[in-house]
Amino acid sequence: MYYYYMYELQPLPYSYDALEPWIDAKTMETHHSKHHKTYCDKFNEAVAKHPELFEKKPEELLFDLASIPEDIYEVVKNHGGGFVNHNLFWKCMGKNKGGLPTGSVLDAIVRDFGSFELFKENFSKSALQQFGSGWAWLVITNNQQPTTENKKLHIITTSNQDSPLSNGLIPVLCLDVWEHAYYLKYQNRRVEYIENWWNVVNWDAVEELYK
Ligand SMILES: [Fe+2]
Repeated sequence: MYYYYMYELQPLPYSYDALEPWIDAKTMETHHSKHHKTYCDKFNEAVAKHPELFEKKPEELLFDLASIPEDIYEVVKNHGGGFVNHNLFWKCMGKNKGGLPTGSVLDAIVRDFGSFELFKENFSKSALQQFGSGWAWLVITNNQQPTTENKKLHIITTSNQDSPLSNGLIPVLCLDVWEHAYYLKYQNRRVEYIENWWNVVNWDAVEELYK
């Protein structure tokens, strides 16, 4: 009966070639229909062993990892993380995007990093320096009682598919720096991938997430 709550892989909110020339269609197709699908499938297989957990949102499971039964803990952390992280990643990008953020997220970036340029520089550097597979994130650090005034932003990185949610942080922007995200087009040139990625960031989505 709980299978109604199985987690579904959603189609991308745009076509596979929408992020060309910055991120190529083949990479997007493989990333979504193979990598993301595998995270989704393995996550579902694990949670199906404790189907009552399907009543919770995937984000809730990651937020409270300590409560996950031991026999599925690692799979939920890794594949549940992969499922949720990629959902956010797709949302944070779009066709003909890039440019500058606006509204409350721009105000918060200037407040917490000094300027948009400084933020971009720090975020790119963090993404570049993440050793091995992982993610760079823009997160809200105080999730307890966030108000417009105190929603402080911070840049962090995580390894593998670890989610900031598991550390009580709310992500509003993320960049996948696993090689599967860029290797077909950029090979070892992660720095070029990161620089070009700014051209597809959907700041409207980031603004919505921040709010
Ligand atoms: Fe990925």
